[in-house]
Amino acid sequence: MACSPGFHETCANTVLSLRGVSYRYAGATDPAIREVDLTMQDGELLGVVGASEAGKSTLCLVAAGLAPRTIRGSLSGSVHLDGDDAATLQMHELAARIGICFQRPWTQLSGVCETVFEEVAFGPMNLGAPRDETLARTEEALTALAITDLAPRDPARLSGGQMQLVAICGLLAMGPAHLVLDEPTAQLDPAGTRLVADALARLAANGASILIAEQKTDLLAALCSRIIVLQAGRVIRDGPTVEVLTDPELPRQGVPETSAGRLRRLATEAGIATELLDQALD
Ligand SMILES: Nc1ncnc2c1ncn2[C@@H]1O[C@H](COP(=O)(O)OP(=O)(O)OP(=O)(O)O)[C@@H](O)[C@H]1O
Ligand SMILES: [Mg+2]
Repeated sequence: MACSPGFHETCANTVLSLRGVSYRYAGATDPAIREVDLTMQDGELLGVVGASEAGKSTLCLVAAGLAPRTIRGSLSGSVHLDGDDAATLQMHELAARIGICFQRPWTQLSGVCETVFEEVAFGPMNLGAPRDETLARTEEALTALAITDLAPRDPARLSGGQMQLVAICGLLAMGPAHLVLDEPTAQLDPAGTRLVADALARLAANGASILIAEQKTDLLAALCSRIIVLQAGRVIRDGPTVEVLTDPELPRQGVPETSAGRLRRLATEAGIATELLDQALD
């Protein structure tokens, strides 16, 4: 069903769906993602894993409606947001519905804001949110990620981890119905990773659908209900998080084990009964 959620409104049946989607970058001989079918429901947190060059970032760009719009290439199949073909949406309509966090956070910053506060406020302001609403959303997002102390700082002079938090903060402030995050915690320490995880879980609990490509399988295990595995651009697994992330084949597909999976494997290899371990981990 088509619907058009405005700023901060949620739409009961919003979904992100990809049907038979392949994407080939300009000049490449092979597609980077192939025949991907994917549907996400409101409130769903979907994890994407796969070896390097498996197509995770490409899937993020395509799912966010940015390829081929902002990067040259050819797309086959269709991407629908809230029932509307993403290709037919204007850029500002896309931005109001879906937020994307790029793998390299420094490419995300506007480059025109003098302070982190302005940078975070930039998104909601551009979406036409009223001034008071913009300020409240900005403060709320800065607090959620515990970076209020960065508010007066120059965004261009932050560490990689700080930039990553600011980029995610800007997305949170926009309150998108859908969110696509490409390795959003790659630059973060465990404390920063936990803050981002909590903020994403809250956003999903409020109905946002969130697609997150990550190498940190512990984070995905804690956050996501469903995981897909990409290999050479194809979805080779799609299932409940526990089932997919405990598959002993996963490391051979270039995906790091979870800590729990690693412990279980080491215990088994050492001939230690895993029942007690399972009880402790459950
Ligand atoms: N801008 C581009 N132009 C041409 N080919 C590209 C471009 N970006 C990515 N590719 C190619 O598309 C394929 C998938 O790359 P992608 O970056 O989507 O993988 P990934 O799973 O995100 O990898 P990583 O784990 O290293 O981030 C690779 O073969 C890569 O070389
Ligand atoms: Mg990538």
